[in-house]
Amino acid sequence: MSQPPGELKVVVLGAGTVGAEVLRILAEQQEDLAHRIGARLTVTAVAVQDLERDRGPHVPRELLTGDASSAVRDADLVIELMGGIEPARSLLLDALRHGAAVVTANKALLAADGPTLYEAADANGVDLYFEAAVAGAIPIVRPVRESLAGDSIHRVLGIVNGTTNYILDAMTRTGADFEQALATATELGYAEADPTADVEGHDAAAKASILASLAFHSRVGLEDVHCEGITAVSSRDIEAARRMGRTIKLLSIVERVSGGADEPAGISARVYPALIPDAHPLASVSEAYNAVFVEAEAAGSLMFYGQGAGGAPTASAVLGDVVTAARQRVRGGVGPRESRYAGLEIVPLDQLRSKFYLGLHVHDEPGVLAQVAGTLSDHGISISTIHQEPAEGNDEGNTADSAFIGITTHRAREQAMQSALDVLRARPVVMSIDSLLRIEGE
Ligand code: NDP
Ligand code: HSE
Repeated sequence: MSQPPGELKVVVLGAGTVGAEVLRILAEQQEDLAHRIGARLTVTAVAVQDLERDRGPHVPRELLTGDASSAVRDADLVIELMGGIEPARSLLLDALRHGAAVVTANKALLAADGPTLYEAADANGVDLYFEAAVAGAIPIVRPVRESLAGDSIHRVLGIVNGTTNYILDAMTRTGADFEQALATATELGYAEADPTADVEGHDAAAKASILASLAFHSRVGLEDVHCEGITAVSSRDIEAARRMGRTIKLLSIVERVSGGADEPAGISARVYPALIPDAHPLASVSEAYNAVFVEAEAAGSLMFYGQGAGGAPTASAVLGDVVTAARQRVRGGVGPRESRYAGLEIVPLDQLRSKFYLGLHVHDEPGVLAQVAGTLSDHGISISTIHQEPAEGNDEGNTADSAFIGITTHRAREQAMQSALDVLRARPVVMSIDSLLRIEGE
């Protein structure tokens, strides 16, 4: 019988915000980790782009390499923290084919091409773990993939992007403008190198695709997730939400749609800024914190809360996977495989029903409200509340004969709302449609 290994060779791809913290913890906790795993973890190479930069005591210069391809072929375990699609995908496929277990935090890659990685792991009988890819330090991948594997998940609803939560929270609490809040989020290491992925919702959509695939045992790609970011959320929207006792949050929602008279059955996966009641637990999730609600048949409602971004919190999730994969390496066996037996179809957003908040800038003249209300009524949309204020005297130089109208609706079909907006846009009394936000959590 072969002896379990006394040492496992670990290659780390990337030593940035997360990689540097992973290397620090690997060094500081070396003895404890060896006990927990039953083998020592020896970092044999750290792949980076810039070989000259000093990276502190836990990233020894002699381990740095610019030749990641060679490094991964001689590893027992590869930790990928470089991000992006290529060369990360090729390196991980190579690592898996050479028999290394892989731990990655790369949600963009998993959302873009997870199945190829799963298949390579399966074909080579090795592990692929990615707890850090969704909601940083919060254990959510393992609960959904393993702890709830015997239950039936109905819905996962959460705040899974720290940068956008930080920005919306700062805009709400301090009145900071979008650019100021984004700059601070970047300084704190929450935002990706290119914050477009955060503020346009792509990062949250990647996480939604991962969660939906796991929760519903179906393949849900990034292209299946309806995605709207926060760049269009204005101070006026934030103020309107506050007036109504609501808060704006960027939500990722993946749910099983059971189907009914006017709704097809399948999965809905969507990311958009939404108004939620101030009393909803997600409304008080501040700064870069994340929170995820899971609703399951037998378990009922579960809530997960914690730090969703940042070097050390994310490193915690990475290390959890490293220990799991390394233990399996020592004792034999592999973790869960991809499960897509259910093959549920994606239900497009326009087939769903929501409550809406609609912000309009209109000419302030007789009959305007009647025209707006009539258009909504023509599309079967029922108004719940309406608020109007004159645009006079605001900083944008609007004249006294224009006004802002904020309307909330009862539940209506998305398709009907989009058709109503087309009609409203064409009406001379409507100067602009400034906002269309959904209302959730009621
Ligand atoms: P960083 O940009 O801080 O670090 C990336 C690292 O990868 C750097 O060390 C960089 O080298 C190295 N790198 C990039 N491209 C290459 C390449 N082609 N060859 C070799 N090395 C390369 O990223 P983060 O640490 O923030 O993120 C890493 C991963 O973790 C990403 O997938 C991200 O989405 C994910 N993640 C990040 C979180 C966070 O809070 N930051 C939270 C959860 C997940 P160099 O230093 O020389 O530039
Ligand atoms: N940029 C991401 C965020 C990092 O802000 O949540 C965590 O995935």
